[in-house]
Amino acid sequence: MYEDELQKYANDILMSENFKSMRDFIQHGNMSVQEHCISVAKTSLAIRDKYNIDCNTRDLIRGALLHDYFLYDWHKNDKLSPHRLHGFFHPGRALRNAKKEYYLSSRQEDIIIKHMWPLTVVPPMCREAWIVTMADKYCSFLETVRIQKGVIHTGKIHGKNFKNRN
Ligand SMILES: [Fe+2]
Ligand SMILES: [Fe+2]
Repeated sequence: MYEDELQKYANDILMSENFKSMRDFIQHGNMSVQEHCISVAKTSLAIRDKYNIDCNTRDLIRGALLHDYFLYDWHKNDKLSPHRLHGFFHPGRALRNAKKEYYLSSRQEDIIIKHMWPLTVVPPMCREAWIVTMADKYCSFLETVRIQKGVIHTGKIHGKNFKNRN
């Protein structure tokens, strides 16, 4: 569900090498960061539909897909890049990485930089960012308690098959 909308608004992101590289990083449980971001985008669309929220679908999808675009393994600490404060700093890193490759609207920037609210203290400023921060927490909970399993150990692709796995 929602694959068509994801491909319509963000096929360039889904097909990019950097986005595909996120399948090598674990997010929670056995979910890769790539699967997590796709899952958050789909859940954001489901929230939009369930509550009939009038919002910008393109910004919602692109912001959700890029919200964790930090591009490192946050479970591995090393001297060059200690990730102990990953929770606080990864939104800024994701925003910088995303800006290098894509034009970001102000809504997309707000989604990425505020998705860890309330850690960010300053709350989201648009409804798209509120939706993604809620979707992210919901998906993270399901992944952490392993209700939602990833492809890493199961050999299956979460949800429907995405062409960007190739
Ligand atoms: Fe995050
Ligand atoms: Fe996330």
